Amino acid sequence: MKPKALITGAAGMLGKDMAKALEEAFEVIAMSKKRLDITDYTQVQKSFTSIAPEAVINCAAFTKVDLCEDQSQVAFDVNAKGPENLAKACKKLNIKLIHISTDYVFDGTATTPCREDHPPNPINVYGRSKLQGENYITQTCPNHLIVRTSWLFGKEGPNFIKTMLELSKTRESLQVVNDQMGRPTYTKDLSMAVLLLLKNNAQGIVHFANSGCCTWYDLCCYALKKAGRNKVNVEPISSDRFKRPAKRPKYSVLNLERFEKITGQRPRPWQEAVDSFLIEIGEYAG
Ligand SMILES: NC(=O)c1ccc[n+]([C@@H]2O[C@H](COP(=O)([O-])OP(=O)(O)OC[C@H]3O[C@@H](n4cnc5c(N)ncnc54)[C@H](OP(=O)(O)O)[C@@H]3O)[C@@H](O)[C@H]2O)c1
Repeated sequence: MKPKALITGAAGMLGKDMAKALEEAFEVIAMSKKRLDITDYTQVQKSFTSIAPEAVINCAAFTKVDLCEDQSQVAFDVNAKGPENLAKACKKLNIKLIHISTDYVFDGTATTPCREDHPPNPINVYGRSKLQGENYITQTCPNHLIVRTSWLFGKEGPNFIKTMLELSKTRESLQVVNDQMGRPTYTKDLSMAVLLLLKNNAQGIVHFANSGCCTWYDLCCYALKKAGRNKVNVEPISSDRFKRPAKRPKYSVLNLERFEKITGQRPRPWQEAVDSFLIEIGEYAG
């Protein structure tokens, strides 16, 4: 009999791919917000007690970075209080807690890839709420794994690449910021990485993203080219020209060495991951 893994936020972009990936080694119990609201401690404790999973993988979050600025109470409830509830219940019931966090815990002033021990200093509400969630977990539940990742794209939810593909259908030109540097990450690769980390009994904080790095402009150009949308003119612009409610870090490239050391595997380059994604959604033109 396979051990049980309970996934929270299972209807989200990552949650859906995570559920599929973990089926290889676990009996997966996928719980969407409707079935389990992580901000409700009583519900969390009841579910964990009756299901008795070996591991809980938290894919639930309030991920709308700009909305977080105006809705900071919701952001802190879901991204900080939620993980605290999970950590308390996991500690009490002796369950391993795997939590997904973000490169936005960093302020973007680094000039080389950020290691797990690089001092966090978030510059927006989303990042601050996610960092508080991390801190609650490290303080409350010793048996934890926090996987920080960045710039997610996957079939199951809205994301930057899908938006650019959609816009390219109706627009002749697009303006995309070219002064934020990060590592795009395919949700399928991240889900397999979590499975691998679980198999290796990884603990603490681990960074995972696809390898290489780029700007949003680079990512847009690459994805549109590979999807055969060659007629669209993509113009690089600075963040100053694309004002948004939440500030973004200029450089949030995650260092992947700890992941490589634990698993013996190097994440594949983001370009290969984008190709696979485009194939998965039927948009790959070669
Ligand atoms: N997307 C990115 O670029 C990115 C980058 C770095 C890190 N991450 C992290 O990766 C993880 C997965 O992100 P994602 O892109 O898959 O996000 P997503 O598609 O927005 O999925 C998050 C899910 O959590 C659910 N949720 C919200 N509040 C909840 C609550 N109180 N209880 C239970 N579930 C709740 C959401 O449901 P509703 O939609 O119904 O509210 C949604 O289904 C998150 O921890 C995020 O912080 C994401």
